[in-house]
Amino acid sequence: MASDPDFNPEILPGQLSLPADWRAVFGHSAPLVVEIGCGKGTWLLGQAAADPDRNYLAIERAWDYFKVLRERAVKRRIPNLRVCRTDAADLIANCFGPQCVSVYHVYFPDPWPKARHQKRRLLTPEFCAKLRRTMRSDGELFFATDHQGYAEEAIPALRSAFAVTEHPGPWPDAPKGRTNYEIKYLREGRPIWRLIARPK
Ligand SMILES: C[S@@+](CC[C@H](N)C(=O)[O-])C[C@H]1O[C@@H](n2cnc3c(N)ncnc32)[C@H](O)[C@@H]1O
Repeated sequence: MASDPDFNPEILPGQLSLPADWRAVFGHSAPLVVEIGCGKGTWLLGQAAADPDRNYLAIERAWDYFKVLRERAVKRRIPNLRVCRTDAADLIANCFGPQCVSVYHVYFPDPWPKARHQKRRLLTPEFCAKLRRTMRSDGELFFATDHQGYAEEAIPALRSAFAVTEHPGPWPDAPKGRTNYEIKYLREGRPIWRLIARPK
């Protein structure tokens, strides 16, 4: 794949079959790892390159971040990575078949701190039910936030669909933080809530 001059890591949601055929998208079958709201994708690009036996999908809604993510993905030509600019909640609800995802990563989703905006938060019980429906029974979801109010809302939302454990301290593979936000917030000494959710 690295020598393929037509290599294009971008997925356009409208071109996916319903439900998405991930084997066709990646050209081979492998466990699927999805990061929701990956920003510029620093962490997921590194993960995908280091873990060729799984397929990685980076979803980012904001155009400015997505442009950087896509440019990096094109430049690095990682065969098991695809990037998609869209609303992850819509993509998962509309295009993901049952039990197609092995691992979800959700790091520092927008906290929407104002009371009137909180309904925009991603991790509602309804969305958690969709995450569960699309996750394999041996799957996992990793979540982190620096926002206490969001953590307090995410825990019961996730618990409505998953068994949830709190992960104290930094991730063992990344003591200085996995994503750009985590690295920054750890440096600033902010508290961070980390959760791992697994099917009950
Ligand atoms: C605060 S940033 C965190 C970026 C990265 N996860 C990190 O930890 O460094 C939240 C990101 O999630 C993206 N985002 C928020 N809601 C989204 C959605 N529904 N679908 C896709 N991306 C979303 C935002 O555009 C933004 O890039």
